[in-house]
Amino acid sequence: MCGIVGYIGSGEAAEFLLEGLSKLEYRGYDSAGIAVYDGSDVRVEKSVGRLAALRDKIREDMPKGSLGIGHTRWATHGRPSDSNAHPHTDCSGDFVIVHNGIIENYLGLKEDLIEKGHAFKSETDTEVVAHLLEEVYNGDFEASVREVLRRIEGSYSLVFMSKKHPDRLICTKQDNPLVIGLGEGENFVASDIPAIIARTRRTFIMNDGEVAVVRKDSIEITNRRGEPVTKKVFEVNWNAEAAEKGGYEHFMLKEIHEQPKAVRDTMSQRIAKDGSAIVMDELKWDAEFLNSFNKIYIVACGTAYHAGLVGKFYIEKLARIVVEVDVASEFRYRDPVVDENTLLIVVSQSGETSDTLAALKESKRLGAKTLAITNVVGSSIAREADQVLYTWAGPEIAVASTKAYTTQLVLMFMLALYMAEIKKTVKPERCRELISLLKKLPSQVSETLSDVEPIKTFAKHYGFNEDVFYIGRSLDYDVALEGALKLKEVSYIHAEAYAAGELKHGTLALIIEGVPVIALATQKSVYEKTLSNIKEVKARDAVVIGIAAEGDEELEKYVDHVMKVPETDELLIPLLTVVPLQLLAYYAAITRGCDVDKPRNLAKSVTVE
Ligand code: G6P
Repeated sequence: MCGIVGYIGSGEAAEFLLEGLSKLEYRGYDSAGIAVYDGSDVRVEKSVGRLAALRDKIREDMPKGSLGIGHTRWATHGRPSDSNAHPHTDCSGDFVIVHNGIIENYLGLKEDLIEKGHAFKSETDTEVVAHLLEEVYNGDFEASVREVLRRIEGSYSLVFMSKKHPDRLICTKQDNPLVIGLGEGENFVASDIPAIIARTRRTFIMNDGEVAVVRKDSIEITNRRGEPVTKKVFEVNWNAEAAEKGGYEHFMLKEIHEQPKAVRDTMSQRIAKDGSAIVMDELKWDAEFLNSFNKIYIVACGTAYHAGLVGKFYIEKLARIVVEVDVASEFRYRDPVVDENTLLIVVSQSGETSDTLAALKESKRLGAKTLAITNVVGSSIAREADQVLYTWAGPEIAVASTKAYTTQLVLMFMLALYMAEIKKTVKPERCRELISLLKKLPSQVSETLSDVEPIKTFAKHYGFNEDVFYIGRSLDYDVALEGALKLKEVSYIHAEAYAAGELKHGTLALIIEGVPVIALATQKSVYEKTLSNIKEVKARDAVVIGIAAEGDEELEKYVDHVMKVPETDELLIPLLTVVPLQLLAYYAAITRGCDVDKPRNLAKSVTVE
């Protein structure tokens, strides 16, 4: 999730580019760059690190000119470095581009372009777009851009600038945001409204497939087929702070709503085109590698630990390998049985949690093979592990983790299925079926997010209770743990998750009249047993909110309220059931007036023991 900006007009482009990028740093901040056309040439300046590093570099000698583009990067392909920072150029330097998203077919395109003599300067997927434009350029800038768009696959917002056509910027988008700000004798382009809000409140919000040719005093927008599109001006009436949160009141809510895209991005490029198999180019494991260890440890903290619990279930169920999960702060002090026959998987959104990093280092010292699942390219954990799988959730700002969890689950599931394919522990038909259900998840997550009113009502109603219990069996129990953690973190309500079958061994004593119990009942294999546990708490007059899959007509007979999520395989349903629990925590915190994005005593990344 990078941030992009563009300027065309009569003012100094660099001033707007730096100002706009500073408002987009929440989208990514591992490197930044700008390109400005000075009337005869394009000057490109880039720097690894936060935007301040770029500012320092050019402070004494700002690029001059009234046409320019800029970028703040959140690395996906290629580590954070000066050369991987955007803007990227073709061989001649005539074409300059910035990109947010992922070009999925870049490897094939890159091979072709190298064969045709193009010299690449970075490890990014983005650079292929600049070289491809150089390759297909026929004198008509817009037609050539369209030809490039026909050949690339993936998600993107792109801004193109050319020395040969200094009177315009061309921009387009697919599955990534892009807005155009309308000025007087100048126009602006940006990933998000915060970048332009200080200059104009009149905007065009671009739709997928649209191509805009932006000149200083005109904007022409066409659709995928090249037909003109008439757009309505969108007047922004949010303040700058709200704009940064995409119009949401808090980053947590924004990030909850970003989950469909985060899940889709994390899956993209990891499913074979014909939907028959999981592809993990990053790993290239084989049966020999899988046979080289006899045990897997998954080690993590907080929400990532909860994702690890689900991962254990997936790997054991699909790949039939024994997995132990541990919290990182415990793992290394209990003299774990780790040696060269161990695979250690660490899970960490930030890639910087010190306990997780220490567990990784210790396991490496003991000879284990190591794999990191993380959201931050180039983080300490990513650098330390032998191999890395990245979740592509984009920066997560709210302390309470939401989209990182769902993307970790997707990746864990895909990893387990990948191992199962190699070990042949899952039949090809079942594999296809699971992959086709996996592909439906982004839209199903969206569906789950479409009606939040009942959740708001529950939160208002039960938001002042002192204790809330979460129960479930099997994967429902793992999700219950995450739901309870979310509620504790942001609303400060005491919440406990219990394996439903364990209730009668103690916790049932706490269930009295009116105590809210959130009961997850989506696991078909233990459905009847869960139902009888629900009856046990109902018999003690608890108020039970059931979470069920669409099509379940039974649960509502035994509980006070039901929230339904779309139907899918019971293995994948945690990705859906967690969403109402995240929302419930969020709205309970709002009801209680808590500081949702920065809960008391908690930090986003715990880099001390
Ligand atoms: C902190 C955060 C949690 C997070 C945990 C692990 O406690 O507040 O949201 O789950 O650290 O962080 P990591 O970056 O390693 O996933």
